Amino acid sequence: MSAQTSSTAGAFRTAVVPAAGLGTRFLPTTKAVPKELLPVVDTPGIELVAAEAAAAGADRLLIVTSPGKESVAAYFRDDSELVETLEARGKGALAEKIRRAPGLLAVDSVYQYEPKGLGHAVAQAGPALADDEQAVAVLLPDDLVLGSGGGDSGVLARMAEVRATHGGSVLCAFDIPREQISAYGVFDVSDTGDDDVKQVHGMVEKPDAEDAPSTFAAAGRYLLDRAIFDALDRITPGSGGELQLTDAVALLISEGHPVHVVVHSGGRHDLGNPAGYARAYVDFMLQHPEYGEDLRGWLTDRLKD
Ligand code: UTP
Repeated sequence: MSAQTSSTAGAFRTAVVPAAGLGTRFLPTTKAVPKELLPVVDTPGIELVAAEAAAAGADRLLIVTSPGKESVAAYFRDDSELVETLEARGKGALAEKIRRAPGLLAVDSVYQYEPKGLGHAVAQAGPALADDEQAVAVLLPDDLVLGSGGGDSGVLARMAEVRATHGGSVLCAFDIPREQISAYGVFDVSDTGDDDVKQVHGMVEKPDAEDAPSTFAAAGRYLLDRAIFDALDRITPGSGGELQLTDAVALLISEGHPVHVVVHSGGRHDLGNPAGYARAYVDFMLQHPEYGEDLRGWLTDRLKD
């Protein structure tokens, strides 16, 4: 069941994907190719994230882009000429792959003219929402959040259920071993009646393991009440002179706005740096019906060396 039908109160229609960053960890490639278009096997990360949003009931992807990165939104345009050529050559399966992205959901874009931080990027989406949209999903395209239990039950649909129950805004967390926690933004939480739902009281960026308020680390999925846009207007630049989305969430918490996290038990990949990207690529390759077995054999031999 989609988020739209499972709980109207928690539902969202627009999924915002901030994609206006500089992608410095992938330089020099990102001089010419936006990192959102780097392939995981043969499919750009942004399509995987768009598919996740569509599966959770979103009907519009709103890409926050920057001058020079128009190819990210252009990727979702129909290419009927190419589809026809492939079909005429008997390559129906390839034609189907090309139809997939444009068929997922409607795609629009807004500009962030300068990379002034994730909060500033999300703020650019505010004026593009319809008056009756009370909540918006934000998906960081660097972060692949996989379904739990090996299935495709995505975290966003669960987040929409939690918003329907508790109101306010809902974020996504992973339970990380304490010895690794200092690489993450960490939530200060208390329990609720549901094991996978915690109430958030605050957040600490990259704490020392012994100071971390919990082992629940932030992931790049947010279901934000529309109040976030007003909060984004009121915060001042934080670390690095950037407007931080987490500062706006913290402001809402301080004003009594309910914020919860869903602790997701599925997998995750960080496509935002070469090491995480390589893991994701290998993981998806190993599961691929055509390439998986061959790669497994090659890797096994390679690792013997
Ligand atoms: P990151 O910091 O991971 O991405 O931001 P980046 O800035 O592109 O990459 P590096 O750090 O230089 O390698 C998380 C997400 O937020 C977007 C990025 O595009 C990325 O998808 N973002 C970040 C913006 O849209 N605008 C910003 O000002 C900052």
